[in-house]
Amino acid sequence: MPDHLLAIDDVAEDFEDILNWAIEFKRMWKSGDEIALNFFPLADLAVGSIYEKPSTRTRVSFEVGINRLGGYPLTLLKNDIQLGKSETVADTANVLSRFLGAITYRCFAHSDVAELAANSSVPVLNALSDKHHPCQAAADLMTILEHFPERERLKVAWVGDGNNVLHDLMLACAMLGIDFSYANPEGYDPAKDVVARAKDFASENGSKLSGTNDPVEAVKNANVIYTDVFVSMGEEGLKDKMADFDGFQVNMELISNAEENWAFMHCLPAHRGDEVTDAVMDHANSIVFDQAENRMWAQMSLLAYLVDNGAWSAMGEMMGVGI
Ligand code: CP
Ligand code: NVA
Repeated sequence: MPDHLLAIDDVAEDFEDILNWAIEFKRMWKSGDEIALNFFPLADLAVGSIYEKPSTRTRVSFEVGINRLGGYPLTLLKNDIQLGKSETVADTANVLSRFLGAITYRCFAHSDVAELAANSSVPVLNALSDKHHPCQAAADLMTILEHFPERERLKVAWVGDGNNVLHDLMLACAMLGIDFSYANPEGYDPAKDVVARAKDFASENGSKLSGTNDPVEAVKNANVIYTDVFVSMGEEGLKDKMADFDGFQVNMELISNAEENWAFMHCLPAHRGDEVTDAVMDHANSIVFDQAENRMWAQMSLLAYLVDNGAWSAMGEMMGVGI
């Protein structure tokens, strides 16, 4: 059991169980199952969420999900706390660990969330850094498993920037043996160390992983087409970046190269008209809002798992999932 979630491969060992737990718990909760409705593994625990960048989905899904698990969510916006002004990340971690049962942190530099985790005695969950977005990947793979329960020979294609969302999606697909192909413009490759980690998982699990500069090649035979903004938070100064993404928009013409049963995914927020057209976003095959909802269920599973007070395993045993 890992202490923290900095990147999605931190939970590689139990990843499939974490997702199946989330899927089954969501189903039970929605059907009004009393056991799910009264499952409070975070009772008496406060969970603090630090945000250095804006958020809609991550913030709301953590606040509501923590509440549903009986915990008390505390949202800590960068302008309201001492972190980054007069206090170090390490001192902040030491102080917050005295009060909280877990900490989530959305930051700019990945090294900051790593430092917070290194100095925290309670689980730290990366809520997006410039390198990783593991909570997104957990929700994404949960959504893929829900939509393609028979996932034999599934292929996920990424078209866009070599960014944080791609990194964890690529790792997560490889961890589950799902074929993965990414297309990015020259100069916007994903990080080499992440690709190497993903390749190790892919070869362990017998799946394919490839990169190209040709979106059509990536999308060919894909069941899922995924994109994200071309300019991420913190990159607003890179004004010329957009021009390098000519030809990388996900539109119906590009999607015509995919499998007939294609699904479109996007972590959101989407910049309609840039990386994706309205026709794709609003298509019946777009599952972007399922993804957004699943942020909450996936994070509830991750929180219950990482807090490690026995509740996650007990519930899993009852649901016939995992350990
Ligand atoms: N996908 C995602 O992380 O959205 P927010 O920035 O709204 O949290
Ligand atoms: N790549 C985007 C994801 C937003 C959820 C960013 O980091 O801004």
